[in-house]
Amino acid sequence: MPVLVVGGAGYIGSHAAHTLKRRGYEPIIYDNLSTGHAELAKGFELVVGDVADSAKLAAVLKRVDAVMHFAAHAYVGESVVDPRKYFHNNVLGGVALLNAVLDSKVRKLIFSSTCAVYGIPAKLPIREDTPRLPVNPYGDTKLAFEHALEAYGRAYGLRFVSFRYFNAAGADESGGIGELHSPETHLIPSAFEAIKGERPALEIFGEDYPTPDGTCVRDYIHVNDLAEAHVLGLEYLDRGESTAMNLGTGQGHSVREVISSIERITGREVPKRMAPRRPGDPAELVADPSRAEELLRWKAQRSLNQIVSTAWNWASRQGKH
Ligand code: UFG
Repeated sequence: MPVLVVGGAGYIGSHAAHTLKRRGYEPIIYDNLSTGHAELAKGFELVVGDVADSAKLAAVLKRVDAVMHFAAHAYVGESVVDPRKYFHNNVLGGVALLNAVLDSKVRKLIFSSTCAVYGIPAKLPIREDTPRLPVNPYGDTKLAFEHALEAYGRAYGLRFVSFRYFNAAGADESGGIGELHSPETHLIPSAFEAIKGERPALEIFGEDYPTPDGTCVRDYIHVNDLAEAHVLGLEYLDRGESTAMNLGTGQGHSVREVISSIERITGREVPKRMAPRRPGDPAELVADPSRAEELLRWKAQRSLNQIVSTAWNWASRQGKH
């Protein structure tokens, strides 16, 4: 079955494309390469185009049965200082894509949403019925798209899954693709940059949180576990239903635990220093992944150590170190 992977030259989209191919689907990557990388789309048909280019989309939508939408700006901090960029691409661009889908015969769409739609939840672990109250423009834009999907689903029969990712990390076991962000802000690749001398030190953003060791706790999920859920999501859509699902492991790890795992696996010390809290960081975010487990018969398979070792395998092949 042919699937259009919009944003397939990015980090999570490229892993989804590889997993689709391994499972016998025929992914076509659609990406404007603004933050995506042609090298992550190697081995795939790549259509270079923007989500707002309705004519280009119309032509390629004729050739597919489903769409996966990964194309979005995804820096929380940047969204605070430049919300215009985020609303323009993630909401206006996203709705343009949605309209192009509606104008085609395709009625199945899988959307990359985020735990940022929940903001700072009152209760952990986070279930899907937790009130959606984002605390930054990035989360606002993802929630806006979720609302559009829900309305289009009710009105026009579009079937969708909104997958709310927790902390995507790790790299494909082949070593051929992985995370490539510029600038890098995520914890694990930032620690690798410190190891490789590409930044002076990893800053630990806060050690006075109400968590066991004082650093923030997150639910790190391997990018290929995410990718596998997307493939199962296509089968779910064939049952004619629509919903939102958390994708996480259900287990939290603190920043210090992640650093220990990195030091153990790489055999290198992470140059680090304490820094103030990063604005907008909740103390703890952990998923209740039971809805995805029940509806997809899916469960995250890979541990934190596997996340770190695959990410290091990829990062140590990039650039100088
Ligand atoms: N951290 C550091 N130092 C760094 C980078 C991160 O201490 O240099 C800490 C952060 O404070 C946080 C944890 O490591 O506690 C993870 O931070 P990341 O930047 O890797 O990831 P976030 O949890 O900020 O972001 C993720 C997703 C976003 C999503 C957000 C919701 O990547 O898309 O969760 O809170 F919006």
